Amino acid sequence: MTTDSSVLEISRPGSDTPIRITPLSDALGAEITGLDLTGPVTGNDLELIRSAFLEYHLLCFRSQPLTAADFSRVARYFGEPQFQLLRHQRVDEVPEVSILESTYTSAEDKPDDLQLVRLSGWHTDDSYFEIPAKATVLQILARPSSGGETRFCNTGKAYEDLSDEMKQRLSALKAVHGYDTMRAPARAQARNEVETQETPDVVHPLIRTHEDTGKKAIYFNPNRTDHIVGIDRKDSDELLDWLYAHFTQPKYRYDHQWQTGDILLWDNRCLIHSVNTDFPVGEPRIHQRILLKGTRPV
Ligand SMILES: [Fe+2]
Repeated sequence: MTTDSSVLEISRPGSDTPIRITPLSDALGAEITGLDLTGPVTGNDLELIRSAFLEYHLLCFRSQPLTAADFSRVARYFGEPQFQLLRHQRVDEVPEVSILESTYTSAEDKPDDLQLVRLSGWHTDDSYFEIPAKATVLQILARPSSGGETRFCNTGKAYEDLSDEMKQRLSALKAVHGYDTMRAPARAQARNEVETQETPDVVHPLIRTHEDTGKKAIYFNPNRTDHIVGIDRKDSDELLDWLYAHFTQPKYRYDHQWQTGDILLWDNRCLIHSVNTDFPVGEPRIHQRILLKGTRPV
């Protein structure tokens, strides 16, 4: 819940419409209104939304579905796009844009155990790359009438709440991230030969320091992190299970209920996300997505 006093209103010279920044939860996220994303965003407006992104980690812009080219222009306000691994999802004319469709086209597509839908699993995008995407920009083009929320947890806040002893212990550890791990309940999508060659296992620190804010966050991807380097599997699983229970607590979480056209921008360096995959069969759920280039986690 937020109160009116938490809304930040910034008036702009030459415009009757102020920009409003409204926090979406105590854990993370802010809604930005007063900006027209169908035209260019420049100057102070651009600085304002860039610094809001670093402060809130997730921004929501209410919008109309944009063309792939316009969507790419908006994403570039925050960084340089990179191509999505899976070629078949790329849009031909604007290849940095991917179309992600999670519609259940038939009843057989929707298992009784929704954990078996890959999107249900908490993750940070792209951690199977040596240099994962720093941020994701996602716009919903079609949404189901119920369910389908994208859920986020703030792994920076979860880090801050650890004991000093645990912080010290985790800071010395690295973990292996793969395209898939048997720790995740659902299997990853198939890769072609080139995509498989591009995604060997990689090692990342378990605690990473944000290159823009200097703040630390837990960098653990339950869909991709297989084990902690240098300790046996049982101890690794125990520690990862403990971390999972810790950083998915409701106090770190915000669930986004999509309105058609919403654009979310979030920081993969300090948030994890997952999807409530309980939505009606036959109702389209379609997004366009751009990943923004990051730096090697340290
Ligand atoms: Fe994702």
